[in-house]
Parts: sequence; structure tokens; C-alpha cells
Amino acid sequence: MSVKEITMDALNVDEFIASQVAEISSVVGEGLAVNALSGGVDSSVVTMLGHKALGDRLKTYFIQNGLMREGEAEQVVGWFAGLGVDIGVIDARDKFFGALKGLTDPEEKRERGITQVFYKDVFGDLVKQTGAKFLLQGTNFTDVEETVAGVKRQHNILEQLGIDTQEEYGYRVLEPIIRLRKPAIRAVARALGLRKEIYARPPFPGPALCARVVGEVTPERVETVRMATRIVEDELSETGAFQYLAILHDDMVTGVRDGRRDYGQQIEVRCWDSTDAVAASPTNLRFATLRKLADRITEEGPGVVSVTYNIAAKPPSTIEAV
Ligand code: XMP
Repeated sequence: MSVKEITMDALNVDEFIASQVAEISSVVGEGLAVNALSGGVDSSVVTMLGHKALGDRLKTYFIQNGLMREGEAEQVVGWFAGLGVDIGVIDARDKFFGALKGLTDPEEKRERGITQVFYKDVFGDLVKQTGAKFLLQGTNFTDVEETVAGVKRQHNILEQLGIDTQEEYGYRVLEPIIRLRKPAIRAVARALGLRKEIYARPPFPGPALCARVVGEVTPERVETVRMATRIVEDELSETGAFQYLAILHDDMVTGVRDGRRDYGQQIEVRCWDSTDAVAASPTNLRFATLRKLADRITEEGPGVVSVTYNIAAKPPSTIEAV
């Protein structure tokens, strides 16, 4: 693998920030760049590095793909407005749901439903409209490692898979944090003055809730997993776990509601202890906590009749389901 990690021990945060800002300035020159901000720590760090380097010549967008969590766009735009960074919101819901229609294979969902739409349709249009020649993105060391190892095709890996973005999409991609893992990225985020909600935010995958819907990704099925995600985040945010999430399964099971058969959906809850997402083990949650999750998810989610808790470790499991 050609990318070399900068370990937490070797990282000098101030020097790292200064060198990346200088690098972005020198590569982009007097031109324009675009980037997408999801509000996760990776894209937030890249947004701040890019704005330090380029100021208004970096155009930052929140891509509303229909797969984000409840209220996420408003929250993220508000946080960055507080830092003096203006974020445009692009409504790309129809593009993503159109591409995801009928897809059930995990890698196809990632490749055709997410990657192609992001890079070709959404960024392709943005680059044409703005005249930008560069895309800044928050690829990190773990993303590269897992994709190169063939574990999962992380949506943001291009060069390591032999993709020439200039040729394929008409712009160059800059990846300022590609040599860092999560703990190092959090340290940089803190030094950049980002708020705790951002630098301590649990990871959230680039393909968003698509990574948590087994089977076809439709607006209705995303709505179900979005509801369960809200409840899981609400109930588990104080656990100190590395990541906690809800997954919607594809197979239905028989339930009973108000004395009548209710053939319904299954939600799986996962909660992980980990330092870097490479290996992870299920958090030892209290049974009362699990029961409360199940009660809330089945009450607030019409059509959900079963809630399970994952007790397998990564490996052989992975953190997300898709
Ligand atoms: P897995 O599911 O591979 O996840 O154990 C490892 C970590 O990466 C996140 N994840 C992704 N992040 N694009 C991303 O930016 C992706 O395609 C993607 N898939 C998984 C996941 O949430 C976990 O923190």
C-alpha cells in the first residue's frame, strides 16, 4: 500500500495543520475547489483545512441524499455558520433513490447507488457549475486499508482502486487526512477549534443509512431505519461506546399486535467498543437498556415487530451491515 500512516505518537498536530494548509494552497493555486460536508469529524476537518487554505475559493456543500439522519442538514449548516463557514445544501434525493432502486447486492448499492451518483452526477454537476478543478475529501487511513484489503469498498476510495478522477469525472481529488486514523483526526479537529459535538462525534458512514438497510433502499425503508437510529442514538449516547447504530433487515417475521397477527420488520441494534474500527467488540449493555430500546423501537416504528442485539465481534462481523 503506497499510503503511509502517521501514527498518533508521530503526529504533531500544529505542524500537520500547517503543512496540509500549505499543500492545499499550493496545489489549488488561484483556482476553486469544492467539498462535501456531512458533519462527521473527517469531512469537518477537511472543510476547516480547506477554508484556512482557500477561504471563499472553497465551496462547501451538504449533499442531501435522503439517507442522512433526522435534522442533520439543519444542524450541520448551523454549526458551521457559527464558525463563519457558509454551507450550500444540494437536494440530490431523487438522484440517489433513483440509482438505488431495485439494487440489493451490498457492493452494487455502494458502487452504483452511492459512489457513481456522488462522483459523477452530484460532484460532476457541481464542478461544471462552479468551474472548480479540485474536490477535497476526507478519506482516512482505515478507509484505504479496508478497501485495499477487499473488506468493503468504502465509497470514497478511488485512486487506490486505479480510478483516475481527472479522466473519469473531470476533477482532481485532494485527500488531506488520508494518512490519519480516527483518534488522530479527532485531535486535529479539536486543534482546529471544532466543537465537541464534532470532534467527539461517533463515526457515521459516507453512504449514510444505505449502509444500514439490508436489501433494497427505498425512502420508506430508510424512514424506518432513521426512526430506529434516532432512538438508538438517544438511548446510547451516554454509554461512551465507539459507535451505536440500527440496522433494518430484509426478512420479515411474524409478530402479534393488539391480539392480531402482525407480519413485520426486524431491527438489529449494534453497539461497539473499539478504538479505530479495525477491530470491535459488542458493548456489554445493561439488559434494562436493551429492553427499553426494544420497547421504544416497536412502539415508535410502525411495522417493526422484532428487535435484536448483535453479540458478534469484528472480525468476523463488520461495524455496518452493508
Ligand atoms: P465497517 O462496517 O467496515 O466500518 O466495519 C468501519 C468504519 O467505517 C465506517 N464505514 C464507512 N465510512 N464510507 C465511510 O466513510 C463507507 O463506505 C463506510 N462503510 C463503513 C463505519 O461506520 C465504521 O466506523
